[in-house]
Amino acid sequence: MSGGAAVLCGLGTWLPPHAVTNDDLARELDTSDEWIRSRTGIGVRHVADPATATSDLAVEAGRRALKSAGCEAVDAVLLATTTPDHPCPATAPLVADRLGLGTVAAFDVGAVCTGFLYALAAGAGLIAAGTASRVLVIGADMYSSILDPADRSTRAIFGDGAGAVVLRAGYADEPGVLTAPVLGSDGSGSELIIVRAGGSREPLHSLTRGQGDPYFRMQGQSVFRNAVERMAEASLTAARRAGWSAGEIDRLVAHQANLRILHAVADRMRLPRQRCPVHLDQVGNTAAASVPLALAHAVTSGCLEPGHRTVLTAFGGGLTWGACAVRWPAITPA
Ligand code: COA
Repeated sequence: MSGGAAVLCGLGTWLPPHAVTNDDLARELDTSDEWIRSRTGIGVRHVADPATATSDLAVEAGRRALKSAGCEAVDAVLLATTTPDHPCPATAPLVADRLGLGTVAAFDVGAVCTGFLYALAAGAGLIAAGTASRVLVIGADMYSSILDPADRSTRAIFGDGAGAVVLRAGYADEPGVLTAPVLGSDGSGSELIIVRAGGSREPLHSLTRGQGDPYFRMQGQSVFRNAVERMAEASLTAARRAGWSAGEIDRLVAHQANLRILHAVADRMRLPRQRCPVHLDQVGNTAAASVPLALAHAVTSGCLEPGHRTVLTAFGGGLTWGACAVRWPAITPA
């Protein structure tokens, strides 16, 4: 292995079959289809059954990405997730094993909804260093396992799912090459998106003493503002690194958090809104799975075509954000 550029060469996705509509939620919570659609753009989300774990979703998406890439072996598996099967160990080695990939390097990447972008950057880094010539990068999350059943503001937004890509070593002028990813963080905002219990600050055993909060909490309005600013700024930087002006971006495939966020990012970048593919109406916010799921949907719906100057971007807890430019290659999602 001698290093090189990282080229996207496969894309696979998986959604648990059970779909929950806004009307389904309204039967349980004080909410309505009208409120959720008008405030978020979301119509349906998929929810895994309680016997399922994140690794199950990741394995399905990973298998499909390998099939899409036409390859059976990789040198590393990176899994972006906030909902690992267990706090310890990481879930990626289990996924690699279940995919029959042998004793390859495997680790989890924790950057909440930006996890997939961070994992892409880490995968490209392994290729550039010559450590790997093929990397399976998966984003998989099962937020249904961390949402407060009584919290209408998070239950309306999040859904479960997984998406994966294969990166291979290639040449800098090929379609599908990832251009120097842009990554950032601001830990002063760590309280805006948080699961308090289950780590060293509030160990799980605090829950058995009746203390601690095991659920995902989000300060929606602050998150909204930060998401718009950071994704727009990172996307413009990523485009510049690829040598494109903002107006030359054909597709901005952004983390599917909220339709109003997607529109605000496009407006801030002075990009026609139609250049931002929308998938959240059908799946909600699937966290680390959101960008690869949106990519696959954009390709299969004919919205994203080979040759398109494409920017991927995401924002999430941490706070974290990222963006990456890629001239879209000829890939058939599986
Ligand atoms: N149905 C009905 N009412 C709801 C609701 C729901 N599903 N969710 C929240 N509300 C209520 C709130 O309780 C609040 O009621 P109150 O005024 O009586 O307290 C009211 O709506 C307004 O809440 P607010 O938070 O100001 O609404 P909003 O317009 O900001 O929308 C979000 C809330 C969560 C949809 C929005 O802030 C958002 O999308 N933020 C970004 C979230 C995100 O993308 N996170 C992931 C980023 S990685």
